[in-house]
Amino acid sequence: EKGGYDYFMLKEIAEQPEALTNTLLGHLRDGRIVLDEQRISDDDLRDVTKVFVVACGTAYHAGLLSKYAIEHWTRLPVEVELASEFRYRDPVLDRSTLVVAISQSGETADTLEAVRHAKDQNARVLAICNTNGAQIPRESDAVLYTHAGPEIGVASTKCFLAQIVAAYLVGLALAQARGTKFTDEVTREFYEMEAAAAAVQDMLDSMEPVRELARHMADRDTVLFLGRHVGYPVALEGALKLKELAYIHAEGFAAGELKHGPIALIESGLPVFVVMPSPEGRAVLHSKMVSNIREIQARGAETIVIAETDDEAARAVADHFIPIPRISTLLQPLVSTIPLQVFAATVADERGYDVDKPRNLAKSVTVE
Ligand code: F6R
Repeated sequence: EKGGYDYFMLKEIAEQPEALTNTLLGHLRDGRIVLDEQRISDDDLRDVTKVFVVACGTAYHAGLLSKYAIEHWTRLPVEVELASEFRYRDPVLDRSTLVVAISQSGETADTLEAVRHAKDQNARVLAICNTNGAQIPRESDAVLYTHAGPEIGVASTKCFLAQIVAAYLVGLALAQARGTKFTDEVTREFYEMEAAAAAVQDMLDSMEPVRELARHMADRDTVLFLGRHVGYPVALEGALKLKELAYIHAEGFAAGELKHGPIALIESGLPVFVVMPSPEGRAVLHSKMVSNIREIQARGAETIVIAETDDEAARAVADHFIPIPRISTLLQPLVSTIPLQVFAATVADERGYDVDKPRNLAKSVTVE
């Protein structure tokens, strides 16, 4: 049932193009985005004034990414919060607040309680979930299922990519309801997401150098991850994968924060992954990242740079270069995450750990 793979996680990493395609399937009808279950009227969607995205772990990272897309497309303020924090403070919610709860299992205790809290405060709740009929979608006003198929590996991979596009679909649905995006623009964004599946497949087909690098770095104690803009949540996700699977101390940082503390950690030989923005799409951020790479290299870091294939500036400064296909900025995480998943799984395997069942972790966290 592992389909020839040593671990379910490897199979699930390989299934990501399909997970994207299936999650998008049927959600564009006559130029309009449609959800799976919508017990919120179009008028109510149009009247939303604020969006909260609540989730835990990897799903939270998908939530962080959705902020860039939803704010850009709708001009609505979006706050992304860990469900365990959201539920215990006193968030300002009312009838015009849309709370988007992202959960693979649909049973995560903190996310479920966040949903209940939001409903008590009269907010509308939309669930993004991979499990049909789970508690979170049952208690929500609207649902969008990620059709990634069952995810057995404890570390979330294909559901992360599926959650990203699902949350983007919510952004497009909101934009459409509010009139901030026209049918042709929504249609274009949708087709671009569909086309990303092929880019993810190309990425998966070129992972041997990453596996080699991982085997060579498997004995390291600490690995850092830097990103900016949408590369920042990707850095957080890369660090989470490495710590949970390989039990290596790993941290993700916003590259702009380097000078505010993290640069003190840089020492000779420390591996640092850098997720580069597009030199064309995000030229200013790109040049800042090149300077960041130089700063950490000057302090002895061993840089592993994930950047567009023809990003010569990044290639020139990188100690190790991992090329990704050119793709629109908001979709870049779909490809830049792949090498980080593969790196973590390979290091874990090389260290002799069970990639599917990391120590101390459960697939579904139904207790706090
Ligand atoms: C990390 C991971 C966890 C989950 C988190 C939320 O690889 O799998 O961080 O993402 O426990 O779980 P769900 O999405 O089921 O609410």
